[in-house]
Amino acid sequence: MMETMDIPVIRVKRSRLAEIDFDHLPFGKFFSDHMLEADYADGEWKLASIKPYQVISFEPSIMALHYGQAIFEGVKAYRNKNGEAFIFRPFDNLRRFNISAERMEMPSIPEDIFIEGMRQLVGLDREWIPAKEDYSLYIRPVMFATDTSLGVKASSNYKFLILLSPTGPYYSAPMKIYVEEKYTRASPGGVGFAKNAGNYGASLKATAEAKNQGYDQVLWTDAFEHKWLQEVGTMNVFFVFGNTVVTPSLDEGTILAGVTRDSVITVLRDQGITVEERRINIEEVVGANRSGKLTEIFGSGTAATISYIKELKYHDYTMTFDTSSFSLAPAVKKILTEMREGKRPDPRGWLVKV
Ligand code: COI
Repeated sequence: MMETMDIPVIRVKRSRLAEIDFDHLPFGKFFSDHMLEADYADGEWKLASIKPYQVISFEPSIMALHYGQAIFEGVKAYRNKNGEAFIFRPFDNLRRFNISAERMEMPSIPEDIFIEGMRQLVGLDREWIPAKEDYSLYIRPVMFATDTSLGVKASSNYKFLILLSPTGPYYSAPMKIYVEEKYTRASPGGVGFAKNAGNYGASLKATAEAKNQGYDQVLWTDAFEHKWLQEVGTMNVFFVFGNTVVTPSLDEGTILAGVTRDSVITVLRDQGITVEERRINIEEVVGANRSGKLTEIFGSGTAATISYIKELKYHDYTMTFDTSSFSLAPAVKKILTEMREGKRPDPRGWLVKV
């Protein structure tokens, strides 16, 4: 355990907690009383501080706005049945944040700001952690370029923030998706593996077209043939073929290395289920559906948790699923939920105490 760094705190004069209806928490709409802020300048991170959640003002020329040098993470905090607060796998998010930073030519963030800062912030606002199943405190670390200059180059100054948002489920019902063949999310050599803001901005048009057609999201495919499956908007994807679970591999750098993806794979393997991380072609999925071998499709993500897919369309072929007959996805969901509630052991130390 590292030494605890003392982060200066300015507390709110009056908490907004009582104004929040914890039975109605749309994803990412409400923010807790405090936030963490740290600045990078002169080649180093300056002292982080915790302060009331507030407006920040900038010159209109800050580089993040013009050239998209911005990355973020999604992490969750829970309270167990004894009321103790935990953060789920924050060290994995720290690792991925710094991988994103490296790809976007940004400085890496030290553990004492990212982890210790997050722990102290969540500790201060622990009353904001919803206690209901499928609810949690969503933690949003974000870093962006703050040089005030229009030259296209890596910024020398950055701001790092951690925001906290009490939230309910991201997708509350089983999803309808289709295979995306017109737009591309990522290609080898690009930034698909990084959690940079632009990946999400670039996905909006495809999502809007899907929504217009009555779908929730798209299933992204490779840039060249539009046949090799990547991920669903905001989630990794899993296919259950008989006794084997298949998910696209991380090898090409075109999908996000989801922390929930890794948790699902680990829990499934712990249960003795074979999980293959490999290339997967839509024709294989269609073939497995035709032969009755494809029994479940589901997505995983920090915000999305485990989300069932009830319909997948490819050209004019529609695969439909009775998600109430799914067994593996609900089993994994149950194991992860019970672990977070403290009803089940946490053999790998995924839950970090606040
Ligand atoms: C998350 O699952 O944390 C994500 O980043 C998805 C999000 C953009 C809502």
